[in-house]
Amino acid sequence: MTPFPEAFPVPAIHLEETDSTISYLRELCSPQCVPELTTVVADFQTSGRGQRGNSWESEKGKNLLFSFVLYPSFLEARNQFLLSQIVSLSVKETLDRCAGHISIKWPNDIYWEEKKICGMLIENNLTGTHITQSIVGIGININQEAFRSSAPNPVSIKQITGKEYNPIELLAALMQRMKKDYLSLQQGETEAIIQRYHQALFRNEGMHPFRDAKGEFMAQIAGVEPDGHLVLQDDGDKIRRYVFKEVQYVL
Ligand code: BTN
Repeated sequence: MTPFPEAFPVPAIHLEETDSTISYLRELCSPQCVPELTTVVADFQTSGRGQRGNSWESEKGKNLLFSFVLYPSFLEARNQFLLSQIVSLSVKETLDRCAGHISIKWPNDIYWEEKKICGMLIENNLTGTHITQSIVGIGININQEAFRSSAPNPVSIKQITGKEYNPIELLAALMQRMKKDYLSLQQGETEAIIQRYHQALFRNEGMHPFRDAKGEFMAQIAGVEPDGHLVLQDDGDKIRRYVFKEVQYVL
C-alpha cells in the first residue's frame, strides 16, 4: 500500500499485518487515549471480524481495512444510531463518486445495486447515559477480483468499474468527509442527518420482500427510529418494528 500523503486528514497508522484493526486500536486506546479520529489501516488482517461472529475476507493489499476512534461524549446512548448513520453516509457518498448506485442497507451495510461492497462494525463504550468511546471498523472491497468465502453477494469497486483504485487515496477522501459529518453531528444537525440517511436507504421506496422469525412478507420502509429500529408497513397496513437481526431483506 502507498504511504500516507503529508496532508492526510486525520492521524493515521499503517500496518502491514494485524489480527484486526479494531483490536489493535482498542489496545492503543488503553490505558491512554489517542487523538480523536486516529485511524489504523492494515494491508492484511489475520482475524478480520465481521457481523454475527463471521470473519471478514480480504486479499492482502487489495482492499481497505481500517478502524478509527471517536469520543462522542456529547451523544446520549439512546441516540447512538446517529453515529452509525453518519459513518454510513460518509462511506456511501465517498463510494458514489467511484461507482454510483451506492445505498445503505439498514442498518449499516453499504451496497452497490444488490451487492455488498462494504461492511462495518461499531463498538461503543457507555458511561451512564453517554457514549465515551466508539471504535468504528470498516472493510471496503476495492481491488479484489474474486471472493471465496461464503459471504453473500460481495462486490468490489474494480469488479464494478474495471479500474484499480488507490486504497489510501480513497481513505483520505473518506476521512475528510467523515470529519465533516462528525462535526455536523457535534453541532446538532440531527434532522438533516436523518433525512439524508432515509434518502440513501436501500429499497427506500415501494413494497419489497422481508423475512422475520414468522416467515416472509411484503412491506415498505416507513422509517428508522432514532434508536435504530426499522419500521415497516406491511401489505396489510400493519406497522412492524424491528431491531437489527430480527428482520432481513429478501434479496
Ligand atoms: C460486516 O460483516 O459487515 C462487518 C465487516 C467489518 C470488517 C472490518 S475490516 C476492518 C475492521 N477490522 C475488523 O476486524 N473488522 C472491521
